[in-house]
Amino acid sequence: MTTFWSAYIFVLTGITIAGLVGLIHFTRKMPGSTDAEETTGHTFDGIEEYNNPMPKWWLNMFWLTIIFGIGYLIYYPVGNWEGIGKWTSAKQLAEETAAHNEKYGEIFERFASIPVEELKDNDQAIRMGQQLFQNNCALCHGQTAQGYYGFPNLTDDDWLYGHSGAEIKQTIANGRMGQMPAWGETLGTNGVKIVTEYVLKLSGNSHDEVMAAQGEVIFSQMCAACHSADGTGMAALGAPNLTDNIWLYDIPNQDLATDIAITITNGRAGNMPAWQGILGEEKVHLLAGYVYSLSN
Ligand code: HEC
Ligand code: HEC
Repeated sequence: MTTFWSAYIFVLTGITIAGLVGLIHFTRKMPGSTDAEETTGHTFDGIEEYNNPMPKWWLNMFWLTIIFGIGYLIYYPVGNWEGIGKWTSAKQLAEETAAHNEKYGEIFERFASIPVEELKDNDQAIRMGQQLFQNNCALCHGQTAQGYYGFPNLTDDDWLYGHSGAEIKQTIANGRMGQMPAWGETLGTNGVKIVTEYVLKLSGNSHDEVMAAQGEVIFSQMCAACHSADGTGMAALGAPNLTDNIWLYDIPNQDLATDIAITITNGRAGNMPAWQGILGEEKVHLLAGYVYSLSN
């Protein structure tokens, strides 16, 4: 904030306070100084209003409020004015962060030396990981990591990017981007339909046998490169296993065949953000331990 705006606030506040002091001064009436029968002149339905002085306690509170206001103005910072208290929210944050790091830094360091797979045996590590998860991940993956449409469930045995401690940590640290190409133009409506029947067959759902057989040919030519020849997926690409009947993109209460056909026609691009830069390595390590513990 420039000096002008700091001064602007001071002047405006000063004028307001002076106005309030003036208001008290000009409206007060010393007790006993005039005739007790004096009225303000308001009447309503024959009822008149006496012009009595303000109660003393009320007036004193008003003065105290004004004095408090002046004190507040000069103690705390306004723009360029540092305030006589030299307090700033940034300074307070820095102090609290330093105190926090001193208190917990050692604990984080200790957990950082425990392998991800073994953190699940440490109650404190899991509790801290869970807290971090609630604050940073629950928004997308759900309070209990159960997932939603487009956001994977982290408690089951179905993994897009692998389930070893190292793979999970890698996912959280650097983020992931799933790229499923759109096939609508290449395959046409009928092509999408028959390959959808084959995907339904792969996952053990009811399907049309004749169309599925035709779809299998397309699958081996166009899909197997990523989803593997038997449809079990490829963790390196984040290409899901299509045989386990667990779906990332199924709208509840909508026909599964419709969801699959939409995915194949338009493609998908799930995006898991990267956390290393935001949370630091030690917290990512704890989060990986927590996520690993959910399915182990
Ligand atoms: C903005 C939403 C969002 C947030 C926040 C988010 N994620 Fe994700 N996460 C995703 C999406 C979307 C995917 C799936 C990516 C894909 O489809 O390729 C994913 C995938 C994952 C996976 C891989 C699952 C698998 O099957 O391989 C893990 C593990 C994971 N997230 C953990 C976390 C953790 C831990 C946090 C908190 C630090 C977090 N996520 C925060 C959206 C999010
Ligand atoms: C370039 C690699 C690649 C090719 C080729 C590919 N896919 Fe995919 N597919 C993916 C990825 C990656 C995802 C996950 C997208 C995400 O995480 O958002 C995916 C997701 C899917 C899904 C959604 C699964 C779910 O759990 O909801 C289906 C269904 C699917 N693919 C079918 C196919 C079919 C059928 C073909 C061939 C016509 C095909 N894919 C070709 C990479 C590929």
